Amino acid sequence: MRALLIRDLAQMVSPAPGSAPLRGRSLRDLRVVPDGYVLCENGRITSVGAMSDLETTTLPADLVELDGRGRAAVPGLVDCHTHACFGGDRADEFELRAGGASYEELHAAGGGILSTVHATRTAGPAGLAAALERHRGWMLAHGTTTFEAKSGYGLDRETELDQLRAITAGGGVPTFLGAHAVPPEFPDGDAYLDFLLADVLPVAARLAEAADVFVERGAFDSTQARRYLVACREAGLALRLHADQFTEAGGVPLAVDLAARSVDHLEATGPEGVRELAASEVAAVLLPVAALNLGRPMPPGRALVDAGAIVALATDFNPGSAFCESLPVVMSLACTQLGLAPAEALAACTVNAAYVLGRAETLGRIAPGCAADLVLLDVPDWRYLAYHLGGEHVALVIKEGQVVWER
Ligand code: NIG
Ligand code: FE
Repeated sequence: MRALLIRDLAQMVSPAPGSAPLRGRSLRDLRVVPDGYVLCENGRITSVGAMSDLETTTLPADLVELDGRGRAAVPGLVDCHTHACFGGDRADEFELRAGGASYEELHAAGGGILSTVHATRTAGPAGLAAALERHRGWMLAHGTTTFEAKSGYGLDRETELDQLRAITAGGGVPTFLGAHAVPPEFPDGDAYLDFLLADVLPVAARLAEAADVFVERGAFDSTQARRYLVACREAGLALRLHADQFTEAGGVPLAVDLAARSVDHLEATGPEGVRELAASEVAAVLLPVAALNLGRPMPPGRALVDAGAIVALATDFNPGSAFCESLPVVMSLACTQLGLAPAEALAACTVNAAYVLGRAETLGRIAPGCAADLVLLDVPDWRYLAYHLGGEHVALVIKEGQVVWER
């Protein structure tokens, strides 16, 4: 593989090198190098610094050079929470919600998640692969070079497994969200979990890296979630939870007790939950688009960072609560609605998001040894990424040293 030199960058910007995840004040530790370069070989970053320090005598012979003038480079963004593998859409439901119907009412009436379950079951493996490929392209155009995606719209054996296979084949990090909702074929959550753990988990555990559960009224209670998560952990999966989206239903203490990788949403989390998370290794994954879109309170982002919790940001991209694939929009909301500084927002959707996916050693920083995943912006100030709400400044995306997208 050829070597790539990105030279004369107006700014090279990265969470500072060191250990991961970043928490508390270290979340703001950003390395900003004006007039910088990044050298990549064999898909990895080998050296980074100021142009004045570039060793031109030792550069590889087969070097490709990329002009970075007028541009800022940031690490490829990592979206650690999406539901990008689904059939159909929910435009009709969007219109109903615009007219006053609530997300929870639609869910209770058999719409919401269950309407996407119907469309996902109907799509078939080829339809799911095509949908994921389309969504992956949308994410790439917004600077996302690594994405996680969940099952959870099959809720039957074949479709859950088809989703996981489509996610892996499409380059995503797969999470088994079998416990997303109770499908209509089952009388209650316990009966559905009996089936899920006996018939689906043994295969899903070989296809996925993590398991996830929706802890909420109308979905699974904390006793059911514990049973599911313990079985998933025994099957070798990392643990994640959707919790405190509408109510504090015990998801945070459960996540801490089981040493989960992350607990996601937290719109309803109060001061005790913030304290528990700050004293733990469980990442708090904040999804401000879902809060905005459903007219819910924002999660306590500032309080979590100040208390010392591990904070990450993600889109929650899905057809219902958050039809938005843009991490730059998430960063904007983090700065304007959650009270995060731009540097904190960048760390939260790069190195800390990589931690949630078990990849913090190699992803989320522009530093020697990391994957050569980079985003070049068409502006010389990286903060435009968050500052310009809905702005489209992603000019070029590089994954493992290759240009994979260009405006
Ligand atoms: O994270 N809250 C549960 N699950 C998803 C939404 C799924 C859907 O509405 O289709 C979420 O917001
Ligand atoms: Fe979600």
